[in-house]
Amino acid sequence: MARPKVLATRPLFPAAQKILDASCEVDYWTQPERISKEELLRRIADKEGLVCLLTEKVNEELLAAAPKLRIAANVAVGYDNITLADCTKRGVAATNTPGVLDETTADFAWTLLMAVARRLGEGEALARSGKWAGWDLDQLVGADVWGKTLGLVGFGRIGRAVARRASGFQMKAIYHDSVRVPLDVERGFHAEYRDLSALLAEADFVSLHVPLLPETHGLFNAKTFSQMKPTSFLINTARGPVVDEAALVQALENKQIAGAALDVYENEPKIHPGLKRPNVVLAPHIASASLETRTKMACMAAENVVALFKGRRPANILNPEVLKTS
Ligand code: GLV
Repeated sequence: MARPKVLATRPLFPAAQKILDASCEVDYWTQPERISKEELLRRIADKEGLVCLLTEKVNEELLAAAPKLRIAANVAVGYDNITLADCTKRGVAATNTPGVLDETTADFAWTLLMAVARRLGEGEALARSGKWAGWDLDQLVGADVWGKTLGLVGFGRIGRAVARRASGFQMKAIYHDSVRVPLDVERGFHAEYRDLSALLAEADFVSLHVPLLPETHGLFNAKTFSQMKPTSFLINTARGPVVDEAALVQALENKQIAGAALDVYENEPKIHPGLKRPNVVLAPHIASASLETRTKMACMAAENVVALFKGRRPANILNPEVLKTS
């Protein structure tokens, strides 16, 4: 029997390619530049499977160009690049990669938190500049991390992994989510629930861990920034559009908050020029980027594709209703 044809918009890690190549005929996009929309639409025409990144939109336009497509496997946990309703309407399964990146992303939220509090970006630039004149009493003094209050907005798997690390810094952890979690879970993570305004008024570090949804789009705006402490920092490893960047720039200019550390942006890869300031740490969307984790994510996506073609339920299916009709 002919092997199903799959398009992968990037070469995957060897372990993941091995999984896919064992049962599919895979067209890997190997050019150094990203696949253009035109090329994507052209190459998807005869494919039954797609392994894609969060930079590719899986929407009606793509689906209309892909009459044979049966699965779109995102190599990411967030899937705001996929219009799930369009996939479901066309009977295309969509999958993501939850769970495997929680700890790595939590590590990176802490990397950003500490970098902005302790002014690592500025310190590194000074150390490299050749202008450093030696130890000085008031040089690059930042803010303590230990003993402070960490406010988590979003208390799913990643928010909780971030909370777990707080006790090592003797910090108090508070969280807000659309649904309050059971008390035993709160206690397990030493985290207390707050409504959003109370969290913003209390937290020294506000770290975002919500998915991008209509309800979270622009959740951080002029009003929310005005509720934060002038000594507080915003950390975003979730999705850029959760933060209104123009309002963030304004809040930084007005000293309504002390700084920000960002891994994600409203219009990636563009970064609002007003964010390029010393009290903002900027990273290029790499929170899950450890070799171990990215390999696991790619393998998960590959396994989702293979499962569907072997007649099994993909472990991370987002729209299981399509399986009933396929
Ligand atoms: C990365 O941003 C992801 O959603 O996995």
